[in-house]
Amino acid sequence: MIILGIETSCDETGVAIYDSTKNLMTHRLHSQIALHAKFGGVVPELASRDHVRKILPLIQEVLIAAGIELQNLDAIAYTAGPGLVGALLVGAALAHSLSFALKIPAVAVNHMEAHLLAPLLEPNPPDFPFLALLVSGGHTQLIEVTAFGKYNILGETVDDACGEAFDKVAKILQLPYPGGPALEQLAKKGKSDRFHFPRPMVNRKGLDFSFSGLKTFALNCFNEFGGDEQTRADIACAFQDAAVDTLVIKCRRAIQQTGLLRLVVAGGVSANEMLRQKLEHMAKTEKSQVYYPRLEFCTDNGAMVAYAGWKHFMLGEKTDMEIKVYP
Ligand code: KG4
Ligand code: ZN
Repeated sequence: MIILGIETSCDETGVAIYDSTKNLMTHRLHSQIALHAKFGGVVPELASRDHVRKILPLIQEVLIAAGIELQNLDAIAYTAGPGLVGALLVGAALAHSLSFALKIPAVAVNHMEAHLLAPLLEPNPPDFPFLALLVSGGHTQLIEVTAFGKYNILGETVDDACGEAFDKVAKILQLPYPGGPALEQLAKKGKSDRFHFPRPMVNRKGLDFSFSGLKTFALNCFNEFGGDEQTRADIACAFQDAAVDTLVIKCRRAIQQTGLLRLVVAGGVSANEMLRQKLEHMAKTEKSQVYYPRLEFCTDNGAMVAYAGWKHFMLGEKTDMEIKVYP
């Protein structure tokens, strides 16, 4: 069975073709970084218009790369939410139009579930059940995954998402959009012992997170000690340490609490090297194993949508003709 996956929830147009017998056949991604950079963040209307421009050429490219025709597709999976409404509507409208024209089903996919399943595209994927840490620009969640579609949220952020905090602190430190990766690079030049950020919520029971206090702490450090290059790097380094420590402490707690020894980490922040290093170290001491998507599938992409769509399709799910999105 061959599925076309379409991702247009935010600032990346992602398209992929997944074959249930051969795994991922091919995928393409168009990033809108250059388009939004001068505005310091994503401009929703520009994002939607760019998806309109890029989606058909990308679909043509993946079909050629996979050596198939539109008529060979068995279903179309698209991100129905969460995301920017206009951006989501581009993917949803296109998926439904193709579905109607080709007389094949369209399958709506939840973006966060797609992130969560992305590590299953890799060789040696984890067996169910497992724990999942979802860390993106909009979400920070610890989830107990007992089977495909069976998700129990154990903890989540009470304010900012982790990626959002990276982006906001990056802005304070005058770094360009997208902030997370830029902050990670700046942190490499910083000293970790100059500022000591708190580790929010670690002394409280439970598995919830909070990141907005770290943002305020970064702003206060910046205002008090100035914006020279070394100070900015030191703030970036101390912020990253605190954010990563908080995630790792809660992951360790979740492993101990549930007894689950497999941890999946996905979403944009899972690309962060420091997070990966510290999680590996923690996992060793807990005799557990961490699973990630390959780096290019940590952030938004069409492959994870095609894969999640296939799993839903196998359960007999498909949407009706109505074009609905869930921003
Ligand atoms: O999953 P994603 O591409 O989009 C959402 O679904 O939100 O995640 C984007 C988020 C942004 O906040 C971005 O700054 C963050 O992931 N991010 C990173 C890194 N790469 C992306 N944060 C920290 N370190 C990184 N290397
Ligand atoms: Zn995402």
